[in-house]
Amino acid sequence: MSTLEVVRVNKTYSGTPILKDVSLTVEDGTVSCLLGPSGSGKSTLLRVMNGLVNANSGYVRLGSDVIGNRLVERRGVTELVPLGSREQSRQRRKIGMVFQQFNLFPHMTVAQNLDLGAHYAGIGSRRERSDSIDRLLDLIGLPDKRDAYPGELSGGQQQRVAIARALMVEPEVMLFDEPTSALDPELVSGVLKIIKTLSEQGMTLVIVTHEMRFARDVADQVVFLADGSVCETGTPAEFFTKPKTERARAFLDVELHTASAHQDTQ
Ligand SMILES: Nc1ncnc2c1ncn2[C@@H]1O[C@H](COP(=O)(O)OP(=O)(O)O)[C@@H](O)[C@H]1O
Ligand SMILES: [Mg+2]
Repeated sequence: MSTLEVVRVNKTYSGTPILKDVSLTVEDGTVSCLLGPSGSGKSTLLRVMNGLVNANSGYVRLGSDVIGNRLVERRGVTELVPLGSREQSRQRRKIGMVFQQFNLFPHMTVAQNLDLGAHYAGIGSRRERSDSIDRLLDLIGLPDKRDAYPGELSGGQQQRVAIARALMVEPEVMLFDEPTSALDPELVSGVLKIIKTLSEQGMTLVIVTHEMRFARDVADQVVFLADGSVCETGTPAEFFTKPKTERARAFLDVELHTASAHQDTQ
């Protein structure tokens, strides 16, 4: 079971609150879309979720794991004890992450890029990893790009490879931070299609996106973040047709207006 639970997380940078008492639950096998204006703390929240950034208070649970910590009973009291770096990276493997920038190694082929992390993580034999690479290249629709270099691929294809790379270590949850924001418009749908396939396969996903139509289509839950706080949580139907707060209404006005302006120019 891989229900992901964020519990009263606070994060400050140089004394400035960035995340304020953020709580949310992403049920096992569901998709949550994290929406909000630029600077609202979406990327920071994803980084706290996978342990790249430590919260000042609060915690993140994945199933029975507390990210970055282990639970220790002392005199009947349960305490959080920070994990060592090796245990942390083992734990972090359960949570894959895909960023706006693909960050593939340019001097390595697609297959080598895919193999690297899994090899270091000690996952499978060389043969098993090679089979996984074949399977994942099929999944992302690039079976013939095994020996291509990233520079020979479009941005959309590179992002699909980055998704496959994250999947190589068989994470329980995948986090996407604006996975299509760096792409030319015609390359967006290929990436979104793969994310949708993962959701249909029952993977637990958290997606930060400005693709409102996609969010509405794929999300079980929408979480709207503003100024570091969860402002609204609901089903896509609730959020997109009857937002409860003025902040969300204003946000949707801008996002939906931008989307239609975008379509008009095409
Ligand atoms: N490493 C950092 N150091 C200092 N401030 C940061 C850091 N990362 C993010 N911030 C600040 O935190 C706020 C939220 O940033 P971010 O999580 O990237 O928002 P979003 O992804 O919603 O645009 C911004 O004001 C940003 O400048
Ligand atoms: Mg961001």
